[in-house]
Order: sequence, then structure tokens, then C-alpha cells
Amino acid sequence: MCIGLEAISVHVPKHYLDSEDLAKANGVDPEKYRFGIGIRQISIPSPDEDSVTMAFEAARTAIQRYRIRREKIGMLIVGSETGVDAAKPIASFVHGLLGLPAACRTLDTKHACYSATAALKLARDWCAGTGKGRKALVIASDIARYEVGSPGEPTQGAGAVAMVVSDSPVLFRFDDFPEATYTRDVMDFWRPHYKSTAFVQGRLSIESYLSALEHTYRDYREQSGLSWRDFDHALFHVPFSKMALKGFERIFGIERERDPELDPENLTGYFERFTLPSLYGNIRMGNLYSGSLYLSLACLLERRGKAAVGERIGLFSYGSGCCGEYFSGTAGADAEQWKDRIGLQAGLSARKRITHREYLAFRTESEARIRNGSASSSLDRPDIFATNRPSFLGIADNQRLYCIPELGDELSVRQGEASRFRRTFAA
Ligand code: HMG
Repeated sequence: MCIGLEAISVHVPKHYLDSEDLAKANGVDPEKYRFGIGIRQISIPSPDEDSVTMAFEAARTAIQRYRIRREKIGMLIVGSETGVDAAKPIASFVHGLLGLPAACRTLDTKHACYSATAALKLARDWCAGTGKGRKALVIASDIARYEVGSPGEPTQGAGAVAMVVSDSPVLFRFDDFPEATYTRDVMDFWRPHYKSTAFVQGRLSIESYLSALEHTYRDYREQSGLSWRDFDHALFHVPFSKMALKGFERIFGIERERDPELDPENLTGYFERFTLPSLYGNIRMGNLYSGSLYLSLACLLERRGKAAVGERIGLFSYGSGCCGEYFSGTAGADAEQWKDRIGLQAGLSARKRITHREYLAFRTESEARIRNGSASSSLDRPDIFATNRPSFLGIADNQRLYCIPELGDELSVRQGEASRFRRTFAA
């Protein structure tokens, strides 16, 4: 049975910081961020956005635009490392806000940026087995945040990618090769429960990424019998776009062992052909953590349109800590199914550039809003209620409160607990 993606949609946060503004504020040569790291802009979540609202927005877009029948969704998994509660999964909030059927399995997966790949693989196996005929909604949603002025800061980002997995893989079909996975216990990147920013050992993280790539790519190559000549595209987990180039160099080196005719002088040309077309979104949104690889996939499909039909795509997923997996698939047969539905370009075009000062204010307000008792202060902000998007209002009585737009859209979003709060407070 062929299993794969029936839908993919991206949620792009409404604000971004230009890498040049960040470089100037940090006293760094802007060329370093732009070319040394490969970042032009980073998505900045506003204080009323969190991993729940972003996951909800991406999923709502996917369900609406691809006309997915909600009663068919029997599994919802959110891959994230920006959990909002130690016990209650993001998936549970999203399930309620979307009004999905009660007969649905909901859970979050966690292994840093690998989490959405773990979710996708679970969903694929479920669709091929006991979930037969039903659909799984998989969402990657994250906010990448490092200390102000730290080396990781220019690689920050935020956003969500929602994917519907089913036996109708009109967008992307998973290849059925044995798994090529790799795990090693390493402290390259981590975020303790008491921190909202990550710790990272930068150089170690890069080495660890490349080592996982090398192991899984060699394994994949051996098990599948394919080499890169069988591929049209090579996609990577993209913490910053220069990392994808480093990954590509590693694969190129492995291929050269068997094919000495590959000319290292042409490495850039190969990279531009195999990988660069997928990086447009990553360069403009920064690290989406769990969603980075799938942002690349969405970007590739959106930008290539009909030209992508039938093309084989290799994907490398990496999560610090660490776990890596190399796998592949083929773009679906009907580009009309994804044209205008992915939402990346439209989301990027609708964004607003903020100043460095505003970026710092957003951070402060976001920190304030995750404290118990913060919810009442957001009621002094009428602009929040004027937005047409879901909002994280803050915390009252140790519970997170969300406001969702008034009904009226075709999805007919169910009014949940959060909306009742909204009405109470607004009265
Ligand atoms: P850094 O120490 O500031 O940078 O941090 P650097 O000094 O190493 O310079 C970076 C590059 O810019 C170098 O190029 C410089 O030569 C170049 P490279 O040698 O790498 O090719 N450069 C310049 N280029 C042009 N003009 C200039 C200039 N100056 C320098 N004037 C680092 C870099 C990536 C370590 C930092 O940003 C960081 O810690 N980032 C976070 C960690 C990270 O993203 N690691 C990636 C692998 S781990 C991973 O992907 C998992 C992750 O997504 C988390 C998860 O799994 O959940 C992070």
C-alpha cells in the first residue's frame, strides 16, 4: 500500500527581524549572518503566538485548503521541542481548537528537531496498519530561541508545518526501504525545563549532525541500493542554510569514494541544483526546529509546482541529543493538489518587518505571558481581540488560555474552553 502526504501547509508568523538589523545591534559584520551562516530574516513570534496557536493555524489551513474531512482524522501527533506543559500535549489543545472527532489518538513526540520525523513514521505505520482508510494529522511546531547576543541568536526562527498522512499520497509518497537511523547520547544542544532558551555547544552540534548524516546516508545507500544519481533533490534539516551546504558536502564526499569522476570544482553547481531550491523559506524564517526539514519540502513543492511531479527526494532528519534518519520519497502525481495550498509564499509576503527594539519587547512580553496570572493583563490589549487569528492570552489559575477567531469560516471551528473565557472576560 502506498502511504504518504495528502496535504502540507505552512504557518508563517506575521513578524520578522532582518539579519542585518540583528547584526548591527550585536556589533557583528552583517555578511557573517547573511553568507557565513546563510540567514536573511528570522521569524519572530508575537507574544500571543505559541506552539499551540502556530500548530492550529497550520492545521486549519491544511484541513480547509485540501478539503480534508475532519471525521476521517483518527490520529493527531505534534512533533515539538517547545512543549507548553509537562503533562498535557500540544496535540490535545489543538485537537480541541480544531474540533476533531473524539475517536482520535493524540500525542506529542519529542526528540529535538527529529520529533516530527518520528511522528510521521508512526503515522505512516498506523495508516498502513490499524488506521487503514483513516488519516493522520502530523504537525511540527516550534519556536527556536537562544540568549540575546549569543552565537545561536541569528539562527532563531518560528513556525509550523502541518501534514496529512494517508493512503492517498497525492503530494509525496514514502519510499519503502529499510530504515536508516542513528542514535548517540551527546550533549550538543539541550533546553532544561526551567529555561526558555536553549544551551548549545555549537561546534559539537555541527560535528554531531554531520556524523549522524554520514552514518545514516551510508546505511540508506547500502540498504536501498540507490546513489544520488537516482535523486532529483537532497533535503536536509536546516538549522541555518550553511548547514545544508555542509551536509551536502559530506554526501558529495561519500559519493566521490565510488565515483571519482565527480569534480569537487562543481560542488556549488550540484548544491544549487539538488538543495538550494528547497531553502528559500529556511533562509527567510530561520530554524523551525521540528519543522525545518518539512519547510524545505513544502518550499520545494510550492516553488517547483508541476516540475516536481515524479521527482525523487532524499531527506535527512536530525535532532540534537541526538537522533538522525535518512529516508526518501517521490513527489506526487498531481501538482494541482498543492498549488496555492501550501501557503509559504503568501505567508512570507504578508509579513511585517520589526525593529530590533520591537524584537526585544516581544521577547520580554512573551516571557511575561507564560507566568501564572498574566492572562488578565492581556485583557487590557484590545488589539488582541481585533485579530483574525488565534491568540495565546496568557495564564490564569495555572491554565493556558486561548482565544480563537469568531466562527464564520467554513471549517466551523468549535468554541472551546478558551473562548468561553474570552466571552466571560469581555462581558
Ligand atoms: P559562531 O561561532 O558565531 O560562528 O556560531 P563562526 O565564527 O563559526 O562563523 C560561522 C561561519 O561564518 C563560518 O563559516 C565563518 O567563516 C563565517 P564556516 O567555517 O562554518 O563555513 N564568517 C563569515 N562569513 C562572511 N563574512 C564574515 C564572516 N565571519 C565569519 N564577516 C554556530 C556558529 C552555528 C555554532 C552558532 O550559530 C550556533 O551555535 N547555532 C546553534 C546551533 C546549531 O544550529 N547547530 C547546528 C547543528 S545541530 C542542529 O541542527 C540541531 C538544532 O536544530 C536543534 C535541534 O535538533 O532541536 C540546532
